[in-house]
Amino acid sequence: MVLFLEAKRVLSWLASLIWLLVLLITATSILPCNGGSITSSYVRKLEESEDMPYDSDVFRSPPGYNAPQQVHITQGDSEGRGVIVSWVTVDEAGSNKVVYWNEKSKKNKKEAEGYVTTYKYYNYTSGYIHHCTIKGLEFSSKYYYMVGTGNSSRTFWFKTPPPIGVDVPYTFGLIGDLGQTFDSNNTLTHYEQNPTKGQAVLYVGDLSYADEHPFSDNRKWDSWGRFVERSVAYQPWIWTAGNHDIDYAPDLGETVSFKPFTTRYPVPYNNAEGSSQLWYSIKRASAHIIVLSSYSACAKYTPQYMWLQKELEKVDRKVTPWLIVMMHSPLYNSYNYHYMEADTMRVVYESWFVQHKVDIVFAGHVHAYERSYRFSNVGYNLINRNCTPVKDLSAPVYITIGDGGNLEGLTTQLTEPQPNYSAFREPSYGHGIFDIKNRTHAYFSWHRNHEGYAMKADSTWLFNRYWYPADDSNTS
Ligand SMILES: *[C@@H]1O[C@H](CO)[C@@H](O)[C@H](O)[C@H]1NC(C)=O
Ligand SMILES: *[C@@H]1O[C@H](CO)[C@@H](O)[C@H](O)[C@H]1NC(C)=O
Ligand SMILES: *[C@@H]1O[C@H](CO)[C@@H](O)[C@H](O)[C@H]1NC(C)=O
Ligand SMILES: *[C@@H]1O[C@H](CO)[C@@H](O)[C@H](O)[C@H]1NC(C)=O
Ligand SMILES: *[C@@H]1O[C@H](CO)[C@@H](O)[C@H](O)[C@H]1NC(C)=O
Ligand SMILES: [Fe+2]
Repeated sequence: MVLFLEAKRVLSWLASLIWLLVLLITATSILPCNGGSITSSYVRKLEESEDMPYDSDVFRSPPGYNAPQQVHITQGDSEGRGVIVSWVTVDEAGSNKVVYWNEKSKKNKKEAEGYVTTYKYYNYTSGYIHHCTIKGLEFSSKYYYMVGTGNSSRTFWFKTPPPIGVDVPYTFGLIGDLGQTFDSNNTLTHYEQNPTKGQAVLYVGDLSYADEHPFSDNRKWDSWGRFVERSVAYQPWIWTAGNHDIDYAPDLGETVSFKPFTTRYPVPYNNAEGSSQLWYSIKRASAHIIVLSSYSACAKYTPQYMWLQKELEKVDRKVTPWLIVMMHSPLYNSYNYHYMEADTMRVVYESWFVQHKVDIVFAGHVHAYERSYRFSNVGYNLINRNCTPVKDLSAPVYITIGDGGNLEGLTTQLTEPQPNYSAFREPSYGHGIFDIKNRTHAYFSWHRNHEGYAMKADSTWLFNRYWYPADDSNTS
């Protein structure tokens, strides 16, 4: 009996040992070795990516005559004391007013007057699109704001960022290529539920995918606006133009590019400084954010080029240590789809990114996730043959996060072998969080839409290129 028990104990001890070994082996095979490239082995259950039907809960219009819908906000000035509030009314133009108040002074309600506009697209006529910029807000404050009138008015709130400063922590969410499918809804839900609460979203382009529907059915812009209101009415989304936002359709008689996008989603650009609705910059907390347009001319002497050159000179890392660049089409991407598509922009701007020590570049377009090491490919000229991407600690990390979940589905075709500049890639839907801790440290994490919940599937520390330019390539 005693012997038997002893044998049993030894056996179970052996079993645990084997388990431990198995775990150890799997763990080490997952860990990247220096310079290693990982293609995640996670195979997502492939479901249909179809648009949620028009009668879905997420598309419901608010009740009441002329009730404001599709409410959204974005930063309204260069440093975070302004907010642009936008909304749509459908029965009549109605009021352009926003009533707003600091939560600490409910009795001191203020009003701002905006303007209303409409547009036509093929045989679609938009509702009344209102925009109103509120300025001079106090930093680090919660504000309530009300749009609409009478019993169909609606009240929302937002929080202004802290004043710009070198060690100000701030958390950005990253979403791209969202669309309006069931997967899109999962991505947005997971972003909202992420315990590391995003305070503003950096949106890397391609919003509604209206252009994928017959006659570019612009009602899809309206349903998209109603879908995302639950987040973007409460925190600013910083907009980037994508290819599905161009809406250039001469066959439909539509020859003005970006008409629905620019009419619906204004941004704080500055004509006098040469920025535009498609390329502009903002400062927020400890970040200087530069938004570029992949679908506007970028070559030497073009307006975007002239502006970016001056803008990069203006960045003061002693005030805003974190230099972030956003665009739709990624400069680097090792999927087959859209491979090298942005090389027109890369050959012109990559050397500037290295010279100015950009910390991170976010892009979308490719419906998958990928993170690079710090590397560059700026040594090449037509005769020297230096065309190998090399490790470069002055270069940004490139993140592709076009995996919001739109109706086109995932990009699953990968170039093989995985290039050594690519640190991690996985074709799954998801969202990202860029969490700035202080002037030296930020933490980036990517959260895949696992079956039914969000799971952190990739992460890395980023050391600031100005304040702490150490090697951060193996800090996941
Ligand atoms: C627009 O034209 C398409 C194609 O002829 C048609 O199916 C649709 O009903 C029209 N929509 C409106 C609002 O007239
Ligand atoms: C809202 O107000 C309008 C006009 O002031 C009135 O006709 C309507 O009955 C009201 N609706 C509700 C639900 O109170
Ligand atoms: C979208 O997600 C929200 C939040 O999880 C849920 O309440 C809603 O029912 C979903 N709608 C659809 C159409 O999937
Ligand atoms: C990739 O490997 C090549 C050849 O070993 C090397 O020269 C290059 O620096 C590497 N690139 C990166 C980004 O590590
Ligand atoms: C900056 O944040 C990192 C990560 O939280 C921390 O390890 C480091 O000590 C912080 N630096 C300073 C100067 O507080
Ligand atoms: Fe795209």
